[in-house]
Amino acid sequence: MLLVTGGAGFIGSNFVLCSLASGAEPLVNLDKLTYAGNLRNLEALRGDGRHTFVRGDVRDRPLLKQLLERHRPRAIVHFAAESHVDRSILGPGEFIETNIVGTWSLLEEARAYWSALPAAEREAFRFLHVSTDEVYGSLAPSDPAFTESTQYAPNSPYAASKAAADHLVRAYHHTYGLPTLTGNCSNNYGPYQFPEKLIPLMIRNALAGEPLPVYGDGLQVRDWLFVLDHCEALHRILAKGRVGHTYNIGGASEKKNIDVVRTLCAILDREMPGKSGSYAQQISFVKDRPGHDRRYAIDGSKLRAELGWTPAETFETGLAKTVRWYLDHAEWVEDVTSGAYRTWVETNYARRGAA
Ligand code: NAD
Ligand code: DAU
Repeated sequence: MLLVTGGAGFIGSNFVLCSLASGAEPLVNLDKLTYAGNLRNLEALRGDGRHTFVRGDVRDRPLLKQLLERHRPRAIVHFAAESHVDRSILGPGEFIETNIVGTWSLLEEARAYWSALPAAEREAFRFLHVSTDEVYGSLAPSDPAFTESTQYAPNSPYAASKAAADHLVRAYHHTYGLPTLTGNCSNNYGPYQFPEKLIPLMIRNALAGEPLPVYGDGLQVRDWLFVLDHCEALHRILAKGRVGHTYNIGGASEKKNIDVVRTLCAILDREMPGKSGSYAQQISFVKDRPGHDRRYAIDGSKLRAELGWTPAETFETGLAKTVRWYLDHAEWVEDVTSGAYRTWVETNYARRGAA
């Protein structure tokens, strides 16, 4: 039995789906269902007795205690978070609450549960914390990629909240011996990603005939990883990672934002040609994100050497699959982008104007 938090979000739902598809153990999925959590992502599991969904908050300690005692998981995989940098800039409060207080609440309840386990189960128990490369800050073009010993230098409220959570996880291992593991991953993309993030937002806007808002000069670099490759890395870390260690996870696929957007337009031009020429005509440079990190890059050699993990998808194959998924799931996009989504888009992009 696994306890997964945030398993109705983008990466969490991919993790839940692929864990159960591989015939693995049952899991309890605790998710608050914020705007980013969507039970439609888990429709394929309807009627599957191995999946227990619980709507709840990771800050709710009595609920956490009850779930741990009732289901007695052998591990916790902690995805639940506020995850969008732009939202953290507009309003950091929820990020402090969920990412810091929520992680602390989960650590406290996990520690109490783990301490009381019989010796063999205590030995086998794991707390896997899902984190980000943004904790390391921003790289100059010629800097070496982030390693696990790169100094933390978080720049956005989101990154700072994740860094705080990472430090708490580290402290619970160091002080109490809680068997923790942390993955610091680069930018994910793939099915079920909420269309506030670069790739699904651009696909949605392109097809809707709306502007494709590229921040600043569009020359910021991200290291892109297909979401199922991330899930596979997490499975390996959970199975064989060294307790107390952190693992960087990356796609070895550094791309400039503007190149990502142009590539997306080219794929869409092929797959779903627009009526008035290339989707690239919709590209619009807008005011930059405040404090925008210039470049992220991951040195994945530790994960490769210790656990033999490398991504199965290249950026080209992963992106083609992703575009196909969004083209085939227009209804999902429609469903998640009504109501509160429109308000968010108006607030975020209205203040940007032209670059
Ligand atoms: P997401 O925003 O798509 O999903 C987050 C999920 O957490 C949602 O289902 C939401 O309902 C749930 N949630 C939020 N607050 C909660 C609370 N208080 N209690 C319980 N559930 C709550 O995020 P994602 O992109 O899937 O990211 C998952 C994790 O991976 C996060 O911890 C994020 O920091 C990390 N991460 C994301 C990326 C990426 O590129 N998306 C890369 C590296 C690391
Ligand atoms: O690096 C890992 C992180 O990647 C995760 O920890 C975060 O949860 C995840 O959201 C992501 O953060 P980014 O800020 O890198 O992702 P986002 O998709 O928001 O933006 C990617 C890049 O594209 C970034 O440089 C900002 C730019 N961008 C984004 C949007 C939404 C644009 O130019 N225009 C846009 O409209």
